[in-house]
Amino acid sequence: MHLGVNIDHVATLRQARYAGVELPIAPEPSVLEAARAALQGGADSITLHVREDRRHMQDADAFCVRREIPLPLNLEMGATPAMLELALRLHPDYVCLVPERRQEVTTEGGLDVAGHADALRELVAELQAHGSRVSMFIDPTPEQVQASAAVGAPMIELHTGCFANTTGAEHEQEVQRLIRAAECAHALGLEVHAGHGIRLSNLASLNRVPHLQELNIGHTIIARAVFTGLQAAVREMKDAILSYSWS
Ligand code: PXP
Repeated sequence: MHLGVNIDHVATLRQARYAGVELPIAPEPSVLEAARAALQGGADSITLHVREDRRHMQDADAFCVRREIPLPLNLEMGATPAMLELALRLHPDYVCLVPERRQEVTTEGGLDVAGHADALRELVAELQAHGSRVSMFIDPTPEQVQASAAVGAPMIELHTGCFANTTGAEHEQEVQRLIRAAECAHALGLEVHAGHGIRLSNLASLNRVPHLQELNIGHTIIARAVFTGLQAAVREMKDAILSYSWS
């Protein structure tokens, strides 16, 4: 099982103080230093989301991490021509297409691949032709999984937000949805990842979902890092993940 560490919140903290401010010193905290700490803590890849409004990660962050960190880079981006242009210059190992605009979002929050199949097929083909493997960040429904396969994406990332935010019978329903979606994806030959709201306390429950190959985790690691430092927080999560056997 791979751990992708999402370091967006490091940029969020930096921008909260320094957005638009010209400084004679490097603004803190450093995204590059965060990526280095994640590497040392055992991250298998670094994830960052360059948003269209650049409110957190800046283009320069992405290029700097790409250049300096010897780990696969996973760029999360909206499915737009401007972001495609950035991705083609950056050459990330992976691109995860995520919803940013209201019309691209289904009620639960994943990308509506089924509803935008033609445009997404072209985008996936172009990214893949330039060497970036593409995943679709989707709600765990058979419709979205099948649509992801149909547009030519080799990977999906199942949105675990509802899974993470429910308890009891509702949570069990979400686990079952994830299991069905993962089985459907596996049967179609897709590589299956998961992300959003994953934390130490829900790993045991997520472990019931088959065919997962990568977990993308951000918030809880950065939150924990406030107290332990980032390298230790990544190590703690990696050790916890590896304490399970994943089918
Ligand atoms: N995967 C994707 C596609 C995301 O956009 C995010 C950030 O929301 C994550 C994973 C990580 O989620 P979290 O910060 O809740 O761990």
